[in-house]
Amino acid sequence: MNEKKEVGEKAVEYVKEGMVVGLGTGSTVFYTITKLGKLVQQGLSIKGIPTSKQTEKLAIEVGIPLVSFNEINQIDVAIDGADEVNRDLDLIKGGGGALLREKIIAKAAKTFIVVADSHKNVDKLGSFPLPVEVVPFGFEMTSKYIRELGGSPQLRQNNGIPFRTDNGNYIFDCSFSNITFPGDLERELNLIPGVVDNGLFIAMAKIIITLNKDKEIVIKKRSVG
Ligand code: A5P
Repeated sequence: MNEKKEVGEKAVEYVKEGMVVGLGTGSTVFYTITKLGKLVQQGLSIKGIPTSKQTEKLAIEVGIPLVSFNEINQIDVAIDGADEVNRDLDLIKGGGGALLREKIIAKAAKTFIVVADSHKNVDKLGSFPLPVEVVPFGFEMTSKYIRELGGSPQLRQNNGIPFRTDNGNYIFDCSFSNITFPGDLERELNLIPGVVDNGLFIAMAKIIITLNKDKEIVIKKRSVG
């Protein structure tokens, strides 16, 4: 069974005629975007707003018309993957390096839906190294301050060259031995000069589409907020 395909395609049920749809990044939401493309070919009228250049390219390939923020007032629904999901429906994201645009779009969406295969479900966030996007200027100092918060930052590299996000920034992948208070850590990291944002998505996801141990689709919903 292709879990990513199962949950990714399930999410299109939340997309209705005329909606503005935030299009996430990664190998799970790939299936959502591909399926939406097919529905558009069959007559569904939607507009997409992509969270990365990679997704922009995919959306164009499958025929989803795109908009930018200067053409819209809000996003009806945003659909994206995650690297970890805990029981409070809080997330670690950014494995693909698109966390900043992903967070901007998730925040702007009336409903933020996460599609996550069963391996993404965790009791506690933090086994997956937390991606932190930083501006290149002074990144050595930024790294020092992240260490002071208990993280072990590793500069993300591609063939020995620092990885650059779509925004021209660097990513530190930060191991934290224990993320006990993810909301506090999200805020503390973002107070460091040089940190643009981090991959903790706290109280943002309204719906998680995932699978249980028996490989059945499970829909988890945030009750408040
Ligand atoms: C991209 O930056 C990430 O936030 C992805 O959404 C996340 O890494 C999940 O990716 P997969 O769907 O490829 O597992």
